[in-house]
Amino acid sequence: MSLPAHLAVIMDGNGRWAKKRGMPRAFGHRAGVEALEPIIEACGGWGIEALTLFAFSTENWARPKDEVAALMGLIVEYFNKKIDELDRKGVCIRMLGDLSAVPDLQRETALRAMERTKDNKGLKLNIALNYGGRQEILRAARRLAEKCADGEMRPEQIDEVAFEGELYTAGLPMVDLLIRTSGEERISNFLLYQCAYAEFVFVPEYWPDFTREVFARALETYARRDRRFGKV
Ligand code: FPP
Repeated sequence: MSLPAHLAVIMDGNGRWAKKRGMPRAFGHRAGVEALEPIIEACGGWGIEALTLFAFSTENWARPKDEVAALMGLIVEYFNKKIDELDRKGVCIRMLGDLSAVPDLQRETALRAMERTKDNKGLKLNIALNYGGRQEILRAARRLAEKCADGEMRPEQIDEVAFEGELYTAGLPMVDLLIRTSGEERISNFLLYQCAYAEFVFVPEYWPDFTREVFARALETYARRDRRFGKV
């Protein structure tokens, strides 16, 4: 079966999952973190090269303060609890997004996890935190413009390779498959450049219900797709 080299996931539906149970939204996010383990395990086991998770978008700051705090708290808790195990499994962690605007504790915890696992050769686990696809593209454009202004390169040298080298995902393959849970069918400013030829699989399950079985079905759907990359 053909597997994606780079899988991106929009983990949607935590809030609705909690509401259905008469619980606060933060309860859903906690369940969402629990759902990560079998998926990360499966990606490692099945030999998927890179898994990119949308944890927090540049737009998510507009959520109620207590929900933002809960999400930030869960991120630190996740790293503190799981870093030994992830490191042991050879997972290499990379954060995607503008960490300069993230609270100190979250930023430092995330950077420590990245530093500790940077030479690991297993699954590349990318966590998008304060991430926006448009912002990422603008940042890359700005960085290239600065290089041109500094005389390090000429505008005509800006090609796909140079541009991709300035994205948070530099060095990773382009996204082959984007999965979004909860029945929503949107890209929501996630990996806009990298998804140019991605296949999209939308599943009805809320993220906390995204089990290994649901994941396997999504991968089967992907394997049946005929990817032509604009050719016939
Ligand atoms: C979307 O559900 C989910 C999020 C905005 C957050 C996803 C984050 C996690 C599962 C935690 C990630 C943590 C780590 C360490 C990677 P929603 O709240 O928009 O759900 P709704 O659409 O039902 O309201």
